[in-house]
Amino acid sequence: MPVTQSTVRVISHLDRDYLRQALEHDVTAGLTSSPKWLPPKWFYDAAGSDLFSRITRLPEYYPTRRELTILRARAADLAAVSRADTLVELGSGTSEKTGLLLDALSAAGTLRGYTPVDVDAVTLEAAAHRLAGRYPGLTVQAVCADFERHLALLPRNGRRMVAFLGGTIGNLEPAARAVFLKELRATLRSGDTFLLGADLVKERGRLVAAYDDSAGVTAEFNRNVLRVINRELDADFEPESFEHVAVYDERHDWIEMRLRASRAMRVRVGGLGLSVSFEEGEEMRTEISAKFREDGLRGELAAAGFGVRRHYTDPEGDFALVLAEA
Ligand code: SAH
Ligand code: TRP
Repeated sequence: MPVTQSTVRVISHLDRDYLRQALEHDVTAGLTSSPKWLPPKWFYDAAGSDLFSRITRLPEYYPTRRELTILRARAADLAAVSRADTLVELGSGTSEKTGLLLDALSAAGTLRGYTPVDVDAVTLEAAAHRLAGRYPGLTVQAVCADFERHLALLPRNGRRMVAFLGGTIGNLEPAARAVFLKELRATLRSGDTFLLGADLVKERGRLVAAYDDSAGVTAEFNRNVLRVINRELDADFEPESFEHVAVYDERHDWIEMRLRASRAMRVRVGGLGLSVSFEEGEEMRTEISAKFREDGLRGELAAAGFGVRRHYTDPEGDFALVLAEA
């Protein structure tokens, strides 16, 4: 029997100079603001991606399991409605859930290409090779890029389904989210679809536990941003001197992740020629994770020019998976 080889290509829009400049810019802006903040995409170096994989298996972190439940039940329907031949996945990470979509598109007979997109090059390449090995004949074009800046540069061949899973949409601020959705919409052509996974508003206790697990994995993940800054910008943060804080803000419907200085200290960021001081108890925001309601999601998608074709939740109503079209 002839063996159909898969091909893997990796394109990068994030060379070292670009990454360095973006990190320098964001860290300067965040550490010289009041209150201080740090930008979340810098959580995801190889160590950060590993920690995130561990988060997805924690008993408290329900979103991954819920989204998998929905995908298992609905992947065949999503494949039939979209008739996509190319799956583009934004913030693909380890591409662990992607197999369910690729299996369904393959069974429907339409699958030709997979384009994972992520800022973490190491995890991206590993996932690209793993999936190419599983689907003979699949063209894998991995793109190392920032989905807040490089959407217009993504390959546009084929009838595409753009998937954005894991509730990562909630890590964007509302204004940035609106811009992201409009920019994405502008890159889609008639027949392309957008598959969005979003975490839903629920009881506060479960939300907070999902971002403050008892084993402390999320705390390590949060502190990892300090290790990235130490390594890349020659800083001397003591990660152990910062406590992980997760609070639910009911006014905004979002979880806020912070790092709290456990004592007064000065931190030097050699690469920026910057020295910053922290008061004891000072909190610096590192991430939000917004939670949604069905009507809110529909409204935001409509405002960006999308119409909802399918809206699924898991039986518990914890998580939503929405298929929209341009
Ligand atoms: N989709 C996976 C991973 C979610 S974690 C899941 O559902 O489990 C978020 C992923 O998005 C990480 O892999 C991270 O590296 C990536 N990411 C975060 N910000 C990004 C950005 N601005 N551009 C591209 N990828 C980003
Ligand atoms: N997209 C994930 C979420 O919002 C990212 C995430 C999970 C995360 N746990 C985290 C980000 C902890 C920072 C800290 O659920």
